[in-house]
Amino acid sequence: MDLATELRLLEERARAQIIELKTSSALQEVRVQILGKKGQLTSVLRGMGGLAAEERPRVGQLANEIRDKIEAALDARGKVLDEAELEARLAGEQFDVTLPGTPVAVGYQHPLTRIAEEITDIFLGMGFSVAEGPEVETDYYNFEALNLPKEHPARDMQDTFYVINDLVLRTQTSPVQIRTMERLSPLVPVRIISPGKVYRRDDDATHSPMFQQVEGLVIDKGISLGHLKSTLLAFARQMFGTEREIRLRASYFPFTEPSAEVDVSCGTCGGSGCRVCKGTGWIEILGCGVVHPNVLRLSGYDPEEVSGFAFGMGIERIAMLKYGVEDLRHFFINDYRFLRQF
Ligand code: DAH
Repeated sequence: MDLATELRLLEERARAQIIELKTSSALQEVRVQILGKKGQLTSVLRGMGGLAAEERPRVGQLANEIRDKIEAALDARGKVLDEAELEARLAGEQFDVTLPGTPVAVGYQHPLTRIAEEITDIFLGMGFSVAEGPEVETDYYNFEALNLPKEHPARDMQDTFYVINDLVLRTQTSPVQIRTMERLSPLVPVRIISPGKVYRRDDDATHSPMFQQVEGLVIDKGISLGHLKSTLLAFARQMFGTEREIRLRASYFPFTEPSAEVDVSCGTCGGSGCRVCKGTGWIEILGCGVVHPNVLRLSGYDPEEVSGFAFGMGIERIAMLKYGVEDLRHFFINDYRFLRQF
């Protein structure tokens, strides 16, 4: 028998065998038997050595065609078998559609984000809108324009990270006051809050090198300390409860005159004094004051025409008070056991 006939016979037998195959694993075995390195095709082709040189290409080409045809037949049969096997598996399989699925963990807001949104909502309800400013700020906006010239001693309280030359990581959200006034002046009323991150060279149980503040600014004709106090009282009662009181203590900020620190009555003892308020009945929540005429003037407002008040509070501090958290660092170490409680 010549080699070409042998090859055709091989193909014929292979086809007959393939069509009878019943499982895909049997198909794999047959594939190896016929086409594998030590398979039937290889052993027939060993006869090539005995061929005349001019015959070889023709027989070689035939061998390739036959290999392709057998491969195609195997693939086609494989597809039929795979489908049949899947069908059989699905038909035989029983499953309980009422079984609970694998639970998907649902995320939720970080407690600080929640508090920031709660604060924002309260002020939106009082007619404020939200303004934003950059975290990398110029020395001018962070200090100078807030009435803190280069050698001012109050700069010591807010040592920060210098980026390059006159660029700093802002130490407070107060620069947003200046940016807002520059943008809007001489229009009134101005009524904005500005939540955001700030940075200082502090690190202990109640201070973090990065923390968040909410700034507030109101400018209009005839704004007084009375407006400031009633606004902050309304805020404190919505935030902490309707029975709360606030008090203003004289303080100092370079960009307000007069300046005050605001305390809220202690929610644990109701004001009689306890461990939480260190026996005073009051807990400090923010700094505020009447906008300094220098600040108004520098940013395009005439202090003879309009006046304003401003305040700034720490979001972490408000969150610690509201949730009774004693160490600020809990908010930042991403321990799920802590975070999931809120
Ligand atoms: N920027 C001040 C701070 O970080 C807080 C502050 C005090 C903001 C008085 C104000 C203000 O707007 O009027 O300590």
